[in-house]
Amino acid sequence: MKARGERIACLTCYDASFARLLEAAGVDVLLVGDSLGMVLQGHATTLPVTLKQMAYHCACVARARQRALIVADLPFLSYATPERALDAAARLMQEGGAQVVKLEGGAPVVETARLLAAQGVAVCAHLGLLPQSVNRLGGYRYQGRDPASAETIRRDALALQEAGAVLLVLECVPAELARQISQSLSIPVIGIGAGNGCDGQVLVLHDMLGLNPRPPGFSKDFLAGRPGLEAAVRAYVEEVRSGAFPGPDQTSY
Ligand code: KIV
Repeated sequence: MKARGERIACLTCYDASFARLLEAAGVDVLLVGDSLGMVLQGHATTLPVTLKQMAYHCACVARARQRALIVADLPFLSYATPERALDAAARLMQEGGAQVVKLEGGAPVVETARLLAAQGVAVCAHLGLLPQSVNRLGGYRYQGRDPASAETIRRDALALQEAGAVLLVLECVPAELARQISQSLSIPVIGIGAGNGCDGQVLVLHDMLGLNPRPPGFSKDFLAGRPGLEAAVRAYVEEVRSGAFPGPDQTSY
């Protein structure tokens, strides 16, 4: 899709019913995100989510999936050593049916990404705001706003592509930085809170359906004014494809 210049529509998905609905509405990538710890389980962060829970939700999605690509998060500390990363990826793929596994971080995870890729695992990298590092970051804050941290994100993105990552999620970085990184990489870059210059977009399902009482500023309620869930998701897919979403109201420059 990147090569054809078609924007990729991705949403988080945690169960079979929504997997069916999202696919019917044209979503390309179903992300079984560890955000399920917040939106399904009610935790304040993604840190309590376990590998067993991720494999369970991934399997629920995989049972209904027909066409869309399934990406699943490796949860907090499940890839802290190369051995753990291989075991965790195996579980998400063998028990959960994941096609791609996602891990957060830059330089510290490059060798892990390389090892996974060398073993045949399709890896999605995740840079910018890293929710699993919220305690080190001191909150859910935009990253890459000063020249030094922007340069680190640029360098990490290139290193992860070179290590074999097939996809990159960029979360909460300035739109111009995300645009430059998307243009400089050959792999697709999926943005969230990163402006509309990326190759695709992802949102947390519950945020874009208006179910989060305090949604992030980069999200949008697609259910508002629409007759039902499928219409809301179709509108999201159309706005991602056309580049209308995210608009200036959902963009940090
Ligand atoms: O867990 C998740 O839902 C994610 C997205 C926010 C990109 O990683």
